[in-house]
Amino acid sequence: MWINKDMEKLQPSAVRKILTMPSKRSDVINLGLGQSIYPTPSNIVEAGKKALDDGFTRYAPNAGLAVLREAIAEKVKKENGINATANDVFVTVGAQEALSSLFVLLLNPGDEVIIPEPCYSGYISSIAVARGVPVTVPLRASNDRHLDPKDLERAISPKTRVILFNTPNNPCGTVAHKEELEAIARFAIEHDLFVVTDEIYEKIIFDGRKHISLASLPGMAERTATINGFSKSYCMTGWRVGYFVMQNKLKEHWAKVQQALVSGANTSAQVACVEALTGPQEFVQEYLGKYDETRNILYEGINAITGVSCLKPEGTFYAMVNVSELGADEDVAMHLVENQGVRTIAASNYGPNGEGYLRLCFAVEPEIIKQGIQRIAEGAQELLAAKEK
Ligand SMILES: Cc1ncc(COP(=O)(O)O)c(C=O)c1O
Repeated sequence: MWINKDMEKLQPSAVRKILTMPSKRSDVINLGLGQSIYPTPSNIVEAGKKALDDGFTRYAPNAGLAVLREAIAEKVKKENGINATANDVFVTVGAQEALSSLFVLLLNPGDEVIIPEPCYSGYISSIAVARGVPVTVPLRASNDRHLDPKDLERAISPKTRVILFNTPNNPCGTVAHKEELEAIARFAIEHDLFVVTDEIYEKIIFDGRKHISLASLPGMAERTATINGFSKSYCMTGWRVGYFVMQNKLKEHWAKVQQALVSGANTSAQVACVEALTGPQEFVQEYLGKYDETRNILYEGINAITGVSCLKPEGTFYAMVNVSELGADEDVAMHLVENQGVRTIAASNYGPNGEGYLRLCFAVEPEIIKQGIQRIAEGAQELLAAKEK
């Protein structure tokens, strides 16, 4: 076959796989999604439409429209404690392209990237496409899915170049503590590593926790690329706009990679993103309130089911549900789709420490979460009964 052997080995996205699994039921509930069911706020949609009418139909510069880069620089200064100018901001085709373009820029073949797992599956593929090697460290259930900095020391090798860190974390639903971030910063400085930090869920945080950007810690701005985007905070997954902030000489070379990969993000969508950042922000709190409600329903409902449990998510709209008493996570996920018509993601797809867990997305209506929990309870009962036979 005319295929590169490394690309042949790449795994398809677990989310895409779950969407196509057949069910006996016609009224399938989808808790496998990686996005909110709520629409893009109408002022942003209107700004995108107007941009087309106003003629924003041509190429934008590689690094993005100046007006958007300015707005992002203002945002990160105000909200993230990163003292960036527009020249440090790079607009990408979703956060996903920020990841892949950065790894293409950073890695030589065989260079290693330390990543805590379970992790977003796009990390593994974007490192593979850049011919790098992911080296995982565990986010253990026994440590409430937070990083134990001692594990970083075990992962270091002469080939380590980058640490990739994600907070708030998909799929774990955690928000990194300040001590965790300080330990990463110390480790990166000590071993002279570059840090890629993915903060795309920064606005989806519960119970008054605070998001801290790694680049705001002392000595980190010059060795960090901070990735963010519009998909999650502004419900704009389909617009495909993300960005990263990097204050380092590397940035002079990035446009060459961007030109080769995508030549720039969608121009009219970038105008809509200016409205997202500079227009009314009330809906961010409004949507957060909705996620908080379904998070609480999920947490109580799941923990009331025999043989199933979950930690309360600290951030994101995902929960990791322990189904290890029912069977292997892939089998449980299959059983639930086939028989109960509820789609979830087997978390072993996110790394070995996901084994025995399902990732559920709770950015859906309360009624759907309630029905989903009821169906999971039925499935759990069937699976437990089958085990006892
Ligand atoms: C942690 C994480 N990073 C990046 C992405 C990619 O986001 P985008 O839609 O901006 O490409 C996702 C999407 O699910 C994600 O969960």
